[in-house]
Amino acid sequence: MEKKFDKLPIHIGFIMDGNGRWATKRGLPRKMGHRRGAEALENIVNYCFSLGIKCVSCFAFSTENWKRPQEEIDYIFGLLREYIKKQREKSEKEQKEEIKARNIKIRTMGDLSKMPEDLEKEINQAKDDTDDCDAYILNIAMNYGGRDDIVYACNKLIKEGKKEITEEDISGALYSAGLPDLDFVIRTAGDIRLSNFMLYQSAYSELYFTKTFWPDFSPKHLDKALKEYAKRDRKFGQLK
Ligand code: FPP
Repeated sequence: MEKKFDKLPIHIGFIMDGNGRWATKRGLPRKMGHRRGAEALENIVNYCFSLGIKCVSCFAFSTENWKRPQEEIDYIFGLLREYIKKQREKSEKEQKEEIKARNIKIRTMGDLSKMPEDLEKEINQAKDDTDDCDAYILNIAMNYGGRDDIVYACNKLIKEGKKEITEEDISGALYSAGLPDLDFVIRTAGDIRLSNFMLYQSAYSELYFTKTFWPDFSPKHLDKALKEYAKRDRKFGQLK
């Protein structure tokens, strides 16, 4: 089969923005934008794995998102619950059928103890159940902030009694410990910033911004972004 892309990211991150605007533009309640956003995520994650991208990270709920109306927060948590459950069941079925080539490990980043108890339980169950999976990784940021991640890592190292730390020590203590750095970050809906998403892990990431609202972001849009990624010359600070 002809290769679709000359090079692919190993680890891709999505800042899924524009759910609210997508809904408002259509005269719908904001929560409908989140629902369509969750569907878009499912579709994009499946597509990434089908292309052979090993690891997908996504920003589902930031430490700043608590400032939203409670009703909207509850709705997003409901979608997360549904999505995690579906992923866990899918993974369970694949593990049972021994479709090893497709099994997906679920990971999260952020302080889950602040989430509703049943959601925290569902997430922990999904993480436990998929712990042996290693073909693909779905890493969901919930109650997550990039600065908070770095502080969390440093405190962990202090507790371990480290007097002096290296970059590798920090990488290994972040919520994303063990995952490779982000190769490519995509943000939808027009804003050109990282908004506290995986700051340490994106030091050398290629960044891609599109005006498309997240619920409209489809495999066709991802193809366009990946074509651009394949053309980028990654220098990592060296002369090439
Ligand atoms: C940004 O849109 C999106 C969020 C704050 C939440 C992202 C959530 C989802 C995609 C759905 C649930 C997630 C999962 C993992 C099932 P916004 O509300 O900030 O949009 P706006 O900037 O247009 O108001």
